[in-house]
Amino acid sequence: MRTLGPDEEDDLTAEPALPAPSTRVGGVAGRLPTCPAASPAAPLTSGARRAFLAAAVRSPGQIGAVAPSSPRLADLLASVVPTHGTPTVVELGPGTGSVSAAIADRLPAGARHLAVELDPRLAAYLRRTRPELEVVDGDAEHLTGLLATRAVPEVDAVVSGLPWSLFGGATQRRILDQVASAIGPTGAFATFAYTHTAPMTTARRFRRLLSEVFDEVVVSRTVWRNLPPAYAYVCRRPRPA
Ligand SMILES: C[S@@+](CC[C@H](N)C(=O)[O-])C[C@H]1O[C@@H](n2cnc3c(N)ncnc32)[C@H](O)[C@@H]1O
Repeated sequence: MRTLGPDEEDDLTAEPALPAPSTRVGGVAGRLPTCPAASPAAPLTSGARRAFLAAAVRSPGQIGAVAPSSPRLADLLASVVPTHGTPTVVELGPGTGSVSAAIADRLPAGARHLAVELDPRLAAYLRRTRPELEVVDGDAEHLTGLLATRAVPEVDAVVSGLPWSLFGGATQRRILDQVASAIGPTGAFATFAYTHTAPMTTARRFRRLLSEVFDEVVVSRTVWRNLPPAYAYVCRRPRPA
């Protein structure tokens, strides 16, 4: 992974040639997991596949994907989730739960895992299939309000499966501001984008926005074992509003 340099914020078309995964997190240069070694992330069940496809047909403008995230991508996104203590983690756009499974694999006993899903049928599916989740029917745009009603002032990590490229710039900004406020100065935020969309205006704008909202934005290598191939952003330290 790498941190975006200031000169890259305006010209982000060089994206597909992502360099080796070195980065700086919390002031310490190091390597972040890019394609983690095989982990027990759950394989996709036929029920999950059906539920995902049904949602994609029902509301294509809300799903923005042809398949759920692969275990590889899910593990990479979940790497921001603390493995000890009693963390509170929020997942945005959990869909059929492929990333939820990777998050759950990391979470210690006593942790909270809230999953904010806009599609009520997917929310119902998650309640049936993943009883360990606190499924919240709602819009990521209202994240801080949704957390306040559950007496959660701040969270340790936010992991997003949202289809950013389907959102306008104002919506992207509103959601990122909500995420920044939810993680505070010490939390982390992970999200992903598809490699083939990197040159698109909306994807480039999103990347610029990330750098406006967060002091640190780290980009992973391409995860080829995902349909389509994708990469992750890991962001920390929201800039003062
Ligand atoms: C691309 S799917 C990702 C599903 C899953 N996280 C994965 O990676 O396989 C996007 C998900 O985000 C949900 N979604 C879209 N807009 C949303 C919003 N504003 N708030 C919450 N969820 C939203 C969709 O209903 C869908 O479940």
